[in-house]
Amino acid sequence: MAAMLFLILALMISFLATPVVYSDRPAAGFRATMIRTEKAINFTQAARRSHERMSMLAARLDAASGSGRVTTQAPLQVDGAGYEYNMVLSIGTPPQKLLAMADTGSDLSWIKCGACSNCTPEGPSYYPGMSTSFSVLPCSDRLCRALMSAAATCGFGGAECEYIYGYGLEADPHVYTRGFLANETFTLGDDRVLGGQAVPGVGFGCTTVSEGIYIYGASSGIVGLGRGPLSLVSHLNVGAFSYCLSGGSMTSPLLFGSLAVLAGAGVHSTPLLAGTGTYYSVSLERISVGDVTTIGPGRSGYGMVLDSGTTFTYLVEPFYMLARAAVLNQTTLARVPDRYGFEACFQASGGGVWDVFPAMVLHFDGADMALPTSSCFGQIDDDGVICWMVQRSPSLSIISNVMQRDYHIRYDVDEGVVSFQAARCDNL
Ligand SMILES: *[C@@H]1O[C@H](CO)[C@@H](O)[C@H](O)[C@H]1NC(C)=O
Ligand SMILES: *[C@@H]1O[C@H](CO)[C@@H](O)[C@H](O)[C@H]1NC(C)=O
Ligand SMILES: *[C@@H]1O[C@H](CO)[C@@H](O)[C@H](O)[C@H]1NC(C)=O
Repeated sequence: MAAMLFLILALMISFLATPVVYSDRPAAGFRATMIRTEKAINFTQAARRSHERMSMLAARLDAASGSGRVTTQAPLQVDGAGYEYNMVLSIGTPPQKLLAMADTGSDLSWIKCGACSNCTPEGPSYYPGMSTSFSVLPCSDRLCRALMSAAATCGFGGAECEYIYGYGLEADPHVYTRGFLANETFTLGDDRVLGGQAVPGVGFGCTTVSEGIYIYGASSGIVGLGRGPLSLVSHLNVGAFSYCLSGGSMTSPLLFGSLAVLAGAGVHSTPLLAGTGTYYSVSLERISVGDVTTIGPGRSGYGMVLDSGTTFTYLVEPFYMLARAAVLNQTTLARVPDRYGFEACFQASGGGVWDVFPAMVLHFDGADMALPTSSCFGQIDDDGVICWMVQRSPSLSIISNVMQRDYHIRYDVDEGVVSFQAARCDNL
């Protein structure tokens, strides 16, 4: 690669940028699989990483509202807490099978390419030289043009589109990924899964240098499932996708286009909020905990972001304070000191304790999400302490991947609607 211009890492893109429309591709259905990397959550690490990611997400939205520009084209801090969902995909002809973290909080998909010496994450690379369907995307390509205002520059007189993506809150030169845009055949879904399908002409980032990006489970990069024009969802021209994060099984389905369907009873829908860039955000109106329903602050701020890359849930005030008081008030177990930032922890002993916790319901605009106890309370350490897995946020509410478990969640990007339905993910 030619020497690249080292761009400022806190990159901005106009929020009003014209969306890229891949109208020449027919909408279709694809089924893919996600693999959860770790059996259990490492709470020490997850609490720290989730907090960092929440801070960055909030900072980006704040920067956006202050300047009228949105910085969310750059990806977020990767949670890296051992509770990520990696998508199984193959790239090239013949297919090279890889895992990449499925991230609703970012747009650009990128994969480690070639030697990529000292690159992070630590999964294997894709090798362009071993594929007959590989080509370099020129600067004139629409994907490059969409990226251009944020993070790309032209190399080789326009023959190559080179990107650099920073991950730090500040311009941190040690957390980034960089490379060039490539055009390849992606096979979504692994060989064992019916419906795994080859999709030619997918633009993605071929990363040749990266640093400081830690994802568990031999991941080779990130699949951007955000709402912006660079994301795989936009690129496949499918209009909608859905997933069901399994709490029990290590695998979870990820469905695109015509296969992303919620049917039968118990489907709830709520509009996506405008003005939140890449992120899928919905209006949280009230929260019920047992017999208590909080009074919400009304429609303010950025709503609640559905983020597949954050492990723990965050609530802004007054939601947090009110919901926590209701949890403390209605849980009869002995309270123990706070741990890892969790402020409602209890001593449990023996089995059968799960039914002593109050039920929690998130009331969105027109849609109620009744949460299983296991999504809200977790055994934190080996000593039987169970905590309410929600933390206080100074700025932004996030519904984490743990809290999204056992729901089939559909993101209709075209219509601007999120729908969900309680589901046995293994049966979808
Ligand atoms: C959890 O992560 C911390 C920090 O990275 C590490 O020191 C600790 O050993 C991990 N705990 C377990 C049980 O793996
Ligand atoms: C990308 O690859 C596809 C399929 O091989 C091809 O039809 C398309 O023209 C390529 N696009 C560019 C910009 O090279
Ligand atoms: C919960 O709060 C109510 C009203 O404030 C009070 O009457 C009740 O005793 C509390 N229950 C517990 C278990 O603290």
